[in-house]
Amino acid sequence: MKCYELQGPDGPEGLKLVDRPVPKPAPGEVLVRIKAATLNYRDLLTVKGGYGSRQKFPLIPVSDGAGTVEAVGARIRQFAVGDRVVGSFFEDWLAGKPSEAKMHAALGGSVDGVLAEYRIFPAHALVKTPPHLDDAEAAALPCAGLTAWSAVVKLGGVRPGQTVLTQGSGGVSLFALQFAKMCGARVIATSSSDAKIERLKSLGADVTINYKTTPDWGKKARELTGHGVDLIVEVGGVGTLNESIRATRIGGTIAFIGVLAGPPPANLRLPLIVMQQQRLQGVTVGSVEDLQAMCDAIALHGMKPVIDRTFPFDQAKDAFLHLASGAHFGKVAIAIQ
Ligand SMILES: NC(=O)c1ccc[n+]([C@@H]2O[C@H](COP(=O)([O-])OP(=O)(O)OC[C@H]3O[C@@H](n4cnc5c(N)ncnc54)[C@H](OP(=O)(O)O)[C@@H]3O)[C@@H](O)[C@H]2O)c1
Repeated sequence: MKCYELQGPDGPEGLKLVDRPVPKPAPGEVLVRIKAATLNYRDLLTVKGGYGSRQKFPLIPVSDGAGTVEAVGARIRQFAVGDRVVGSFFEDWLAGKPSEAKMHAALGGSVDGVLAEYRIFPAHALVKTPPHLDDAEAAALPCAGLTAWSAVVKLGGVRPGQTVLTQGSGGVSLFALQFAKMCGARVIATSSSDAKIERLKSLGADVTINYKTTPDWGKKARELTGHGVDLIVEVGGVGTLNESIRATRIGGTIAFIGVLAGPPPANLRLPLIVMQQQRLQGVTVGSVEDLQAMCDAIALHGMKPVIDRTFPFDQAKDAFLHLASGAHFGKVAIAIQ
């Protein structure tokens, strides 16, 4: 089979297209023919070795893939050849609370990912693809989709009538916007681009703010709501945290997810989190059980992930560069076969 291998922390240019034997499923395992993968900001970090000491080399990168069952090992009853499936980001976090052991096997980081024509999964790490999604759309679910689901639905507990703020138009944020609307919430969505803001509106954003032309967007969000938003999906990280604290109501939640905005400002307003009794909730993707719950909701609501562009397998490096450019709206996909 053809697969991309990262032999060192050399960035997208270090990706090598190599041949490896097609693996055979052992008892309890499933061989999946990967049809599509999608990229996350994390994949830009992992190709530069930014995943820390747990990252192995050589590594097949990229966590998020979907495809078709090609063969099953002994004792597999829940999947048959031809079934369309999505693989979990964490192979061994089946359900319940996270733990070091459950989070050890993270695809495209500590274990091989999906930028390959075939991959073996333990059967417990697979869920069936929502039938209305194509393979690229399904491949958007494991990391970006599930992180947004955990932030908004599982940990955020968003209810109808509440207000959610999303930052920018990347993969996690567009899913968060869609899930917040699914929950009946009002969404304030930000972007650095007026053209992207028009697209955010067509996805259901009720109010939009350009965070470049309105750098105090947190203050603006607080004014617009009167008292602040109930939940903010913090993909910027410490670099945007000051405005997020401002935007969030007393008793509200900051779902802390990303690192997009770089280092913190000198005057980080952390004491305000205490005075406003805000909840700072770390979010790390989710379990297989959560992935199944999200897929059920997506199927019921006919929700479609937003795919910006799909690159052919032999142009995978260009897909990484496109993601790095920040020109995308939603997910950048790679068609594998
Ligand atoms: N904790 C977890 O489990 C987890 C899971 C997934 C992702 N993440 C993290 O979440 C973040 C988002 O990941 P992603 O894959 O969705 O990224 P992405 O698709 O690459 O998102 C990029 C977009 O984010 C927006 N953005 C960039 N800087 C911003 C800023 N300072 N303020 C507001 N928006 C900004 C921009 O949107 P506009 O062009 O519209 O301005 C940009 O196009 C990353 O830091 C990633 O590492 C964490």
